[in-house]
Amino acid sequence: MNQQNPAKGHPSQDLAAPDGQAGVPTHFTDPGHPEHQPRQSDLHPAANKRAERQVVLLFAVSVLGTIGFLVAYFAVPPGETVASMRQSNLLLGLGLFLGMFGIGAAVVHWAKSLMNSEEKAEDRHTLRSSDETRAAAVEMLREGAQDSAIGRRGVLKGAMVSALLLAPLTVVVPLVGNVGEDWDVSKFKSTMWRKGMKLTIDPSGRPIKASDLTIGSVFHVIPEGLEDTEHPLDEKAKAVVLLIRLDPRDLTEAEDRKGWSYDGIVAYSKICTHVGCPVALYEQQTHHLLCPCHQSTFDVADGAKVLFGPAKRPLPQLPIEVDDEGYLIAQSDFTEPVGPSFWERLK
Ligand code: FES
Repeated sequence: MNQQNPAKGHPSQDLAAPDGQAGVPTHFTDPGHPEHQPRQSDLHPAANKRAERQVVLLFAVSVLGTIGFLVAYFAVPPGETVASMRQSNLLLGLGLFLGMFGIGAAVVHWAKSLMNSEEKAEDRHTLRSSDETRAAAVEMLREGAQDSAIGRRGVLKGAMVSALLLAPLTVVVPLVGNVGEDWDVSKFKSTMWRKGMKLTIDPSGRPIKASDLTIGSVFHVIPEGLEDTEHPLDEKAKAVVLLIRLDPRDLTEAEDRKGWSYDGIVAYSKICTHVGCPVALYEQQTHHLLCPCHQSTFDVADGAKVLFGPAKRPLPQLPIEVDDEGYLIAQSDFTEPVGPSFWERLK
């Protein structure tokens, strides 16, 4: 049964209950839309003007955010210290946030406060609408375009165009800025580890003795003298190591790696061979080392072989020994590139 909806004048959609059991209504009347409530900006020209100014302001926030991003990009480079890197990231993030947020908030506010808010309903019958409905939809769109009044709101149009034109610079400038950077990937094939270099605790730089490690303990390790290098953060990103002590009876060592560990102490690159996240979750009972990014799991007791996940090769092992004073030292650099297997293809 079809009824005319008294509120909106649309035919109602009646829903029949399956078999009309006693007490169960067989039909529901379409309640239709609630009465349209005009907004302040519909009723008062001053409120409409105020909403327009707010939208302009939000676009202006976006413009300022984008400009701030560009200023921070050039004026506050990341530098060589963690503090300067954090400061640069904070400013870039703030600029990016304001640049994007301003546009999003302006568009939403514009749509909610300035565009036509009349409810429109289209009763659904066949999937393809009738020609009349399609013509009505086109008419609605045309009305919507007219309601946006973009042609008459010059300042608003200017603010929107400025914000939209400037916002892509937050992506383009860093990309273009990197053109000409040093893309020589050969530097990723080696790290600063050398024969006799002490293993020191990250970040204090205190050398470690084999006797400092009990079975099951894990240390995050960097090479001695890292802070004195020209680019300590770059060097650290490649050279960080996880030092783990196992019961020597649990350790399986490949023939060509005999002598790379010391009394159950093994050292593996901390850089995941999948896409380079730091692997840091060690499960003492199973000797499994987990990468938190995509769950690659490595077997510390067996050459850090991959047990699970997308990584394609074991974590590179750093050959270690102890010096005369009992300090742990490297026997050499890693014998293969650390990090993503991508570098292997460049050999
Ligand atoms: S980066 Fe480690 S699993 Fe993806």
